[in-house]
Amino acid sequence: MSIRTESAAYEGACAKPVEVQVQLAGGTPTFVVVGLADKAVAESRERVRAAFAAIGLSLPSKRLIVNLAPADRPKEGSHFDLPIAMGLLGALGVLPPDVLDEHLAMGELGLDGSIAPAPGALPAAMLAAERGRGFICPEACGPEAAWAGGDLPILAPGSLIQLINHFKGGQVLARPAPGELDDGASIPDLRDVRGQETAKRALEVAAAGGHNLLMVGPPGSGKSMLAARAPGLLPPLDAEELLEVSMIQSVAGLLERGRLSRTRPFRAPHHSASMAAMVGGGVRVRPGEASLAHHGVLFLDELPEFHPQVIDSLRQPLETGEIAVARANARVTFPARFQLIAAMNPCRCGWAGENGQACARGPKCAQSYQARVSGPLLDRIDLQIDVPPVTPADLALPPAPEGTADAAARVTAAREAQHERGALNARLSGDRLDRVASPDAEGRALMTKASEAMGLTARAYHRILKVARTIADLDGATAVRRIHVAEALSARKSSQAGRQAVSAPPRVSTFP
Ligand SMILES: Nc1ncnc2c1ncn2[C@@H]1O[C@H](COP(=O)(O)OP(=O)(O)O)[C@@H](O)[C@H]1O
Ligand SMILES: [Mg+2]
Repeated sequence: MSIRTESAAYEGACAKPVEVQVQLAGGTPTFVVVGLADKAVAESRERVRAAFAAIGLSLPSKRLIVNLAPADRPKEGSHFDLPIAMGLLGALGVLPPDVLDEHLAMGELGLDGSIAPAPGALPAAMLAAERGRGFICPEACGPEAAWAGGDLPILAPGSLIQLINHFKGGQVLARPAPGELDDGASIPDLRDVRGQETAKRALEVAAAGGHNLLMVGPPGSGKSMLAARAPGLLPPLDAEELLEVSMIQSVAGLLERGRLSRTRPFRAPHHSASMAAMVGGGVRVRPGEASLAHHGVLFLDELPEFHPQVIDSLRQPLETGEIAVARANARVTFPARFQLIAAMNPCRCGWAGENGQACARGPKCAQSYQARVSGPLLDRIDLQIDVPPVTPADLALPPAPEGTADAAARVTAAREAQHERGALNARLSGDRLDRVASPDAEGRALMTKASEAMGLTARAYHRILKVARTIADLDGATAVRRIHVAEALSARKSSQAGRQAVSAPPRVSTFP
């Protein structure tokens, strides 16, 4: 006799169906799980056995075979416990087979028969809805699963006993309600930053055009402070983006009590982060920081302190908006379309190029420090600005009259203009860039003059055009004019360290 029920395996942030087949046969009593299962799945046997004993059921002394199909789809994680246990309950006649056939289940079992939360309830619930099945998940995952749609029948039992009682009619479980939707009041306000008008403006331009931003300045000038305020400038996630972001958070096990947030993610990994932490992977494939920052901001503070390979691994997602993690038996893709904000000191001691506080090791210090960031990465950063130290006079200023809300309103308007044209300015290139961002005659004249005077490379030239287009959008202008080009030209790294970098050999020469 063979009993079937369904569960899910995760491929990136998506859930794929897995059929759980349970067969009781005569022969030597054994309990085996087959079908490309990892160690956590193999351990299911022990948990299921213990959970059954805890509720007063013993496994029959027969050959018990659990097959997870299709056999070539890798299966990871402890969430197969519940569907396996349900299949056995079906084989023992405790649960009717048609109940098993109508549901998709996921959840980990405790030795006492309780059902413990497991990551990935949201994508699994979406899969159940797609396949026209009811969804069974741990109690703690109910609020998360309930986001998958109002029509989806969901059972979120706390233990195997509750589940059995539900189907026997003893104790009917209610459908869980979705978790809270957080509209995010917790982002700090731009008003807290005194002075630094240029940097604030650059942050606004970066948010408006989706440009990556690099801030270079001495310690304590407020770079981290500015970056933390970036998500507040971005418009809230729309419904589709919210779903994508929440699916990734669900697979990473980060959705506490099913609480979703419309605020764009802000991830600030420490510079000691490993490759697996940054782009995903590891023994069990989990999304990395770059994927958790999908549709939001990835902030790399102290950029040159990151391992060079880790920084370079971001080149692929910056280009394609996706990360592919190669595994021994599969290739997993996670979405990762983030906006990069990076901060760094101009040199290791932090003071190169500053008046009054000179760097002890001279220009070499700045050159070797900045060379740790590879040219191809810098090439993808449209806005590279200096953040000078805050003066005591700045700190004594009253809070700025304008805060995050004012800047965010301008960003939203500028993004609407780009939306109508079909792409964020940061993603413009080739013909399209020429078409929408070509300045008027005066602007072009200024560009030509500046390129000659500053020795701009073609790459830097295009970068300035994109930024000028965004500045024009913030201005509500259809044409890119001289004034927009002028501002874009001025928002470029100009510190002594920067100039040294420009004249320094190979890798650093990509500083514009
Ligand atoms: N422009 C500023 N306005 C108000 N406080 C500031 C400013 N810049 C720095 N600070 C103060 O200095 C601290 C350190 O700033 P931080 O952003 O960490 O500097 P950085 O990242 O450039 O080293 C902040 O927590 C804040 O208290
Ligand atoms: Mg800092």
